Amino acid sequence: MSKLTTTGLTKAFSGLVAVNDVSFNMEEGEILGIIGPNGAGKTTFIHLVSGILMPTSGRIEFKGKDITYAPAHERSRLGIARTYQLIHPLENLKVVENVMIGSVFSRGKSLKEARKAAEAICAELELDRLQRDTAQLSILEIKKMEIARALANEPEVLFLDEVMAGLNSDETKQVIATVQRIARERRMAVGVVEHVMGVIRELTQRVIVLEAGELIAEGPYETVSKNPRVIEAYLGGAA
Ligand SMILES: Nc1ncnc2c1ncn2[C@@H]1O[C@H](COP(=O)(O)OP(=O)(O)OP(=O)(O)O)[C@@H](O)[C@H]1O
Ligand SMILES: [Mg+2]
Repeated sequence: MSKLTTTGLTKAFSGLVAVNDVSFNMEEGEILGIIGPNGAGKTTFIHLVSGILMPTSGRIEFKGKDITYAPAHERSRLGIARTYQLIHPLENLKVVENVMIGSVFSRGKSLKEARKAAEAICAELELDRLQRDTAQLSILEIKKMEIARALANEPEVLFLDEVMAGLNSDETKQVIATVQRIARERRMAVGVVEHVMGVIRELTQRVIVLEAGELIAEGPYETVSKNPRVIEAYLGGAA
């Protein structure tokens, strides 16, 4: 059974249809790329499946259960987590506390248990000195903290919204390897939004392409990247 399915998912913002009739699915253990030009609807799509926004129409199922209008906290409890394109760490908290938030709220852990889990996840991501304020972190460390916070939710489905943006190529390689490892070890379905096609090629088994809210192509990156409609969407976006 698919982990996550959408059917005809649509979100309109007073006239602008940001996500238009998108049907897709994600399977256990798969890393799926979600690509498309700026404004294509990628972040809005993640907002819809994580419950930050409610759809105008369509349906969302998690392991066959209808969650179309379930609140965000229920979805994170069920096992859907995501990072944010616009990162907002809680700056008056320590690194470890930022990561603990995930498991305190959605997993109902005690503070002691949550701290232990957060420390283990940070160790796994090679994020150290957890008593620092988030203001002292490098971009790479902030990105790792975002991933750690999402993992603290113990997700079965994880969305990463441009988590590599701002990283240099060595750091990007490191995060690619980390994402591959956590997806494999946890049997998670991971949805990855990235603009750098080298990352998508390296990381994903399958890609969906959004353009102006519509899903215009789907398949392995090698196939999709040769699709004339996809090439046109990117060139059109750049013109
Ligand atoms: N809250 C909102 N109200 C009105 N319009 C919105 C809102 N959020 C997004 N949009 C519009 O919806 C469209 C899709 O935006 P979205 O942020 O999902 O695109 P994206 O594919 O993530 O783009 P990027 O690659 O730049 O991050 C854009 O035209 C955007 O301006
Ligand atoms: Mg976006």
